[in-house]
Amino acid sequence: MPEPPASWHQPDLAAKFLQNVRGAIPLSIEQIDMMLRLLTAARGERLENFLDLGCGDGVLSSAILDENPGARGCLVDYSEAALATAREQLGAHANSVEFVLTDYAQPGWMSEIARTQPFDAVVSGFAAQHSPDDRKRALFGEIFQLLKPDGIFINIEHVASATRWTESIWDDYMIDAIFGQELRASADRSRAEIAREYYARAVQEADALAPLEVQCDWLREIGFENVDCYLKVLELAVFGGQRPA
Ligand SMILES: C[S@@+](CC[C@H](N)C(=O)[O-])C[C@H]1O[C@@H](n2cnc3c(N)ncnc32)[C@H](O)[C@@H]1O
Repeated sequence: MPEPPASWHQPDLAAKFLQNVRGAIPLSIEQIDMMLRLLTAARGERLENFLDLGCGDGVLSSAILDENPGARGCLVDYSEAALATAREQLGAHANSVEFVLTDYAQPGWMSEIARTQPFDAVVSGFAAQHSPDDRKRALFGEIFQLLKPDGIFINIEHVASATRWTESIWDDYMIDAIFGQELRASADRSRAEIAREYYARAVQEADALAPLEVQCDWLREIGFENVDCYLKVLELAVFGGQRPA
């Protein structure tokens, strides 16, 4: 049996991650820990390569490569600035990574990574949520095609609340999380100021979010198995599935 990943419980790695832009997001460490556990459960020692869609600063790839030093990562983003940051952050793994500047919402994007596919795993963090439903579902189908048999897709995503009631609990939860983080950093914004900014941004972002259950159904219809939500707190979910063997 492969050993479960352990290093994300170490305080230095947790601290490194908390400095990241996701610092105010609840359960950030647990989400990454779950991703690593799923990769180990699905691929054991055989994680040869993976794709990180919408890699941003490369935080997911960094965690995967720390745990799987023999793996190769293909990091995709349409932002040159994001890829430059990821390149810098992943300097220690420079020989194990490839960066691809492309927009995975555009038809034909898969040809940009034709050389490196198929993958043992496709991961994505807070990226697919920006695409409208029809594009998101199509992307899940493309990810299915990019996976090796038994390969796993793990999506860490902001999903839509199932009801208006849970949405209001989520809003309070997030405002408290941001307020708590600012208090610890000695910022002097009031909770009301934070709430005003939060609601202004939440309205802009809400359009593209899809409910978790709908997205899991898309995955099942596409042919994924072991589809599940592996970790969830209100609108934050880690979900995905495996391509059958
Ligand atoms: C919120 S950041 C998350 C970054 C990182 N995955 C993480 O978990 O912290 C989302 C990233 O996805 C990228 N992105 C969003 N839509 C994309 C698209 N259609 N094609 C390529 N990259 C995209 C953005 O440029 C950004 O770097």
